Formats: sequence, C-alpha cells, structure tokens
Amino acid sequence: MPDVDDPALPGGLFERIDPGSDLAFYEQPRFVTHIDDATIAALTDFYRERLAPGARVLDLMSSWVSHLPEEETYGSVVGHGMNAAELGHNPRLDAWHVQDLNEDPQLPWPDQSFDAALIAVSIQYLTRPVEVLGELARVLVPGGEVIIATSHRCFPTKAIWAFRNLAPEERIRLIAFYLQRAGGFEAPDFQDRSPDGADPLWILSARRVGESD
Ligand SMILES: C[S@@+](CC[C@H](N)C(=O)[O-])C[C@H]1O[C@@H](n2cnc3c(N)ncnc32)[C@H](O)[C@@H]1O
Repeated sequence: MPDVDDPALPGGLFERIDPGSDLAFYEQPRFVTHIDDATIAALTDFYRERLAPGARVLDLMSSWVSHLPEEETYGSVVGHGMNAAELGHNPRLDAWHVQDLNEDPQLPWPDQSFDAALIAVSIQYLTRPVEVLGELARVLVPGGEVIIATSHRCFPTKAIWAFRNLAPEERIRLIAFYLQRAGGFEAPDFQDRSPDGADPLWILSARRVGESD
C-alpha cells in the first residue's frame, strides 16, 4: 500500500507501471552500477566529507557496492537490499538483510542504532517513503544524518509516477516533503554535486532532531 492515508500525498504519485512483486523483480542479481563513474566518485567525496570515522552506517536500499570511501573505517556498515547475492558480494557490509520496504516499511533495528543512513539512487522505488523515513528517524541517533542521493536514471516500470513525470527540482521538493511528513528531522540541506558531462547528483540530507553527544 502506498502512503495513501496522507491527503497531502495523493496515491497517484505512487502509481507504478509494474505493481507486481518487487522481490520477484530483484530476484536476479545485477552486478552493475546505476550511475556514471564520475557521479559515483562525487558521491564518495560527499560521504568522505559527511561521515565521521567510526560512524555506525546504515546503507538502506543497497546492492553489491556502497560507494563509501575505501580508505575510511567505520564503526559498522549494515546493509539492506532486495537481493542476497548482491549484498553478499558487497565488501563494505558487516551485516545485511533482505526486506521489501513496500510490503513492510518497519526496520528491524532498535531505536538510535545508527549515526548515519544512506539511500543512494533508490528512493524513487518506495511507495511508502514517509513510513520508511519515519523509521530512519527512529533508528538514527539525535544529530544523526540521513543522506538521500538522487540522479535521473531508473527502472521505469518500478519507479513511482512522481519520479517518472516530475522535473528534477520538483522531485527534490517531494523528497523534502517526505522528510517533513515523516517528522523527526531538521530542515534538509540540498546540494547539487553533479559532475560535468556525467549523470547528475542531487543530494538531500537532514539531521535527526535532538542534541548529539
Ligand atoms: C538502482 S539500485 C541502487 C542500489 C545501490 N544503492 C547503488 O547505489 O548502487 C535500487 C535498489 O533499490 C532497492 N529497492 C528497490 N525496491 C525496493 C523495495 N521494494 N524495498 C526495498 N528496497 C528496494 C534495491 O536494493 C535495489 O538494489
């Protein structure tokens, strides 16, 4: 079910060409990258700036790569995704699990388990984004940050209507609105880190409200 209970987010925004099983769609592993190398490098640079050494990182909607800086050591990197073979090949993950967030948006971790949460080039597939972001607010520590990186490519049959039809700046505004409806986050920061001549990189990040240690 999409976020249809929120009158400010009409169900039509979340319609998909293929509303069938997402787990079936992702059953075959895809050992590919979804954005250009230069765009991946720009995202890695952003993570290098924002993620403190030793941070406990959640890579939500992950695959066989996490785009984290290779030289950096984090306290832990926990992955979530849709394909066990992809996640099993991801060298950055200390632990991982498979879960269809459109079926069940409740995350399995206790409150305040992570210092940062990443969603890389994937938020267009969520039909219940407000519930998922509300869960991220729950599992982040106060002052912890969610980093939502977006570009312009997608699997069109699985992306929601909004991400197939809205202009890039409207898509960013929609994600900011998701965060506002989810609650628990400070006002988001937007950065355009698009490299010249490569896939764009538009990043929204927001801190969990409350004092950090
Ligand atoms: C374009 S890939 C991006 C993977 C990775 N974050 C990256 O940067 O390469 C989209 C990812 O969205 C996730 N995804 C798609 N549908 C999902 C769903 N219904 N529930 C949870 N995750 C989903 C899967 O993990 C899939 O690998």
